[in-house]
Amino acid sequence: MLLNKRIIIGICGGIASYKAVDLVSKLQQAGALVDVILTEHAEDFVRPLTFSTMSHRPVYSDLWEASGRAAETHIALAEEAELLAIVPATANTIAKLAYGIADNMLTAVALATKAPLVLAPAMYRDMYTHPATQANLALLRERGACIIEPEVGRLASGAVGPGRLPTTEVLQGAISKALGRNGDLAHRLVVVTAGGTHEPIDPVRYVGNRSSGKMGYAIATEARDRGADVILISGPVALEAPYGVELRTVETALQMRDAVQSAITGADVLVMSAAVADFRPDTPAAQKLKKGNGGGEAQGFDAHGGLTLHLVRNPDILGELAGIPGSSETSHGQITDKGERSKRLVRVGFAAETNDIVTNAQSKLQAKHLDLLVANDVGRRDSGFGVETNKVIIFHATGQIEDLPVMPKTGVAATIWDRIVPLLSTT
Ligand code: C5P
Repeated sequence: MLLNKRIIIGICGGIASYKAVDLVSKLQQAGALVDVILTEHAEDFVRPLTFSTMSHRPVYSDLWEASGRAAETHIALAEEAELLAIVPATANTIAKLAYGIADNMLTAVALATKAPLVLAPAMYRDMYTHPATQANLALLRERGACIIEPEVGRLASGAVGPGRLPTTEVLQGAISKALGRNGDLAHRLVVVTAGGTHEPIDPVRYVGNRSSGKMGYAIATEARDRGADVILISGPVALEAPYGVELRTVETALQMRDAVQSAITGADVLVMSAAVADFRPDTPAAQKLKKGNGGGEAQGFDAHGGLTLHLVRNPDILGELAGIPGSSETSHGQITDKGERSKRLVRVGFAAETNDIVTNAQSKLQAKHLDLLVANDVGRRDSGFGVETNKVIIFHATGQIEDLPVMPKTGVAATIWDRIVPLLSTT
């Protein structure tokens, strides 16, 4: 996604400028061609050499240097840039951008470029909340700039409030999203489920599974980077929400069903990568179950203090959707009696298997009327739950079977979207 992208990172003179070094390094590692422009005061905080060492490219700052070449350079930079991100953006530079002032290399490039603008304001709390700064940000937002909200926390001054520069992951996420805004999923709404579900036994215990959510989060992130609006419905996981994705958290299969049903109205794609528990304890105990005397037979304890859980079936969320317009049997969108859907919903399921992968996957694809079923062998060490790589076989409704090599989950996510895009309705 970032490979060979021409990105300008503008650095303003704020204490958070040292954090931009990490961003430049990560973008360079991802294959982007990063040109750094420092304002005069940024150089007081971080030396140009620090950035050029990370970007492997020249760093710019002085628009007025004697050779006059910088004046030409700023036009070339502005024209070639695919994105300009200002990290950190100070109140001073934000004000200049709002008013079209071009009194240094960075603001001159910002005025001359047609590339999308991403701003990461970071400053003292009261400068950020000042009505002048807020009005300037609102104006820039109106003109199409992406403003990354600063984090709330302890600031360099010791004050607590909004003004901290977000993490490199968030900044990189915002840059990737802005670069991908016209991608092959632009104007599409996609719903992705991720993680496992927790089915309560009592207020402190649950029945769960080992899904980490990594595959689903990678699928949601990839869709965002191809221009989609993404709703990510996630079970309990230890992952940060990807920037620019609408995260809806759930705990149980029943909650996930409600969340999916309300999210798919108007959606183009549903990718169910969540490992939804097939069973849940019949009636979770209202109080924590105690060993020893237990809760008696009514709570499932036997005479020896053993505990028997009675599990009931959870609804099959994907299976329940098999009948709606847009299942793989229906090639074009339709309007239901209630007028709920007007376009085809492409539906993609996952199957975590330990044996008989092909037979199990094919029968699931058919039973749930899916467009695609992605089967992964969770018995392998390099595939499935918790690890960074996956070995999947993609089963198509057309009968095609694609056995993919072991890949990072990000690569698997990209391949899945490559297969989904041709299935999207054009209506
Ligand atoms: O039948 P199986 O559970 O293996 O099917 C897996 C697929 O079905 C996954 O896409 C999973 O998200 C989905 N599923 C579901 N509701 C369930 C169980 C699984 O939608 N109760």
